[in-house]
Amino acid sequence: MYQLINKFIESAKEIEGDVFPFLANKKSFNPETDSVYYSGPYWDDEEISEMIHSIFKGKWLSSGEKVSKFERQFSKKFGFDHSVMVNSGSSANLVMIAALKKYFEWEDGDEIIVCACGFATTVAPIVQNGLTPVFVDIDWQDLNWNLNEVEAKISDRTVAVISSPVLGNPYDMDTLVNICKNNEIKLIADNCDSLGSKWDGKYLTDVAVAASCSFYPAHHLCTVEGGMVSSNIKEIVDLARSFAWWGRDCYCVGQQNLLSCGTCGKRFDKWLDGYDGIVDHKYVFSQMGYNLKPLDMLGGIGSVQLAKFEEIHKIRRSNKEKIGEIVSSIPGVRVVGENKRSETSWFGVPIICDSKELKESLVFFLEKNKIQTRNYFAGNILLHPGYKHLDDAEKYPNANQVLSKVFFLGCSPTINNNMIDYIAATVERFKND
Ligand SMILES: Cc1ncc(COP(=O)(O)O)c(C=O)c1O
Repeated sequence: MYQLINKFIESAKEIEGDVFPFLANKKSFNPETDSVYYSGPYWDDEEISEMIHSIFKGKWLSSGEKVSKFERQFSKKFGFDHSVMVNSGSSANLVMIAALKKYFEWEDGDEIIVCACGFATTVAPIVQNGLTPVFVDIDWQDLNWNLNEVEAKISDRTVAVISSPVLGNPYDMDTLVNICKNNEIKLIADNCDSLGSKWDGKYLTDVAVAASCSFYPAHHLCTVEGGMVSSNIKEIVDLARSFAWWGRDCYCVGQQNLLSCGTCGKRFDKWLDGYDGIVDHKYVFSQMGYNLKPLDMLGGIGSVQLAKFEEIHKIRRSNKEKIGEIVSSIPGVRVVGENKRSETSWFGVPIICDSKELKESLVFFLEKNKIQTRNYFAGNILLHPGYKHLDDAEKYPNANQVLSKVFFLGCSPTINNNMIDYIAATVERFKND
């Protein structure tokens, strides 16, 4: 089947030329007509072939054997015992917090410490699960949260901190681990931007009780949409899976889903206390869940992407260095670097401008020249309509300056050397403007 699909892809290319725009991006760049996208799927024929194969050969099309295989491969690669794939990083955060709350028996109103600056759906799942986010300001040096403030915000209701390094760039993880140990609270990782980042040679997620990840096109691995929850505690991943699969009690996945007696060996049994009869385990609901399952095709693409992770990591690091050097030649601009003990798997190139005027004029100039820029996500999340009721944004003065002085450029492997040369020429024009 793969042979036939590959023939089709080759014919499509012969007839249509560059049929997949993101593949074309890897090879050529015409500054007259093309944009420098900040990220995108770093795919080639293999991912397309896998996608088509899933449709032709898939028995169920929804989450199945390919997803199950990707979960196992992802766990092995990043040092987890268990993982469950879902349909986005936001869904991963939602079911991860739900699972942790249930597993550790956290109560409504218990507190989780989170950075005031970052992505919206790092914070939302805390509230959506009946817990209370407690915010911390950032440090202007690397834009990561201020660890002294993390410690100062711990109260007798604090159950966890959720760590999400800025654009994947780790801060002093030893200090955070000690804070958590000394105060007997859990360290949760929103690892959506930091897949593969290391502190002292170890993945950041090694010290977390659970970790989430995103496979949206902006991220290190792209399955179009997709996310993962991982942990070394099986019950946490089983709970996360249950929340993502309608809240069902049954945990049959992949090939095991085809066992007539179920993974537990007693699929048809007296499962309900209040009903004296045989019930199918597949329709026993032990949580109030959601449906956040991924398509099986996404698992197939995930496996292909995972095999390219080291290449992606290397190019992201090299692109960050090259683009960072170009941009930091602008007077009044600073590019955040990595700590000596880190090996950052960069999500983007973090750029700090001396003033609001400089940021605005630089962003405008780059965008006008078709070089995509991005805000550091929400800036202070407490400035946003959906979040402002949670706390007073004014209490976080550094976070408040992020929207006016910080932005980022991409460093995705879809950005090739021709594009980097174009960025350099554009920056020179900006300096001489
Ligand atoms: C830190 C962080 N968490 C969560 C998410 C949400 O991931 P997704 O877009 O897959 O829902 C993002 C998205 O970019 C993110 O940057």
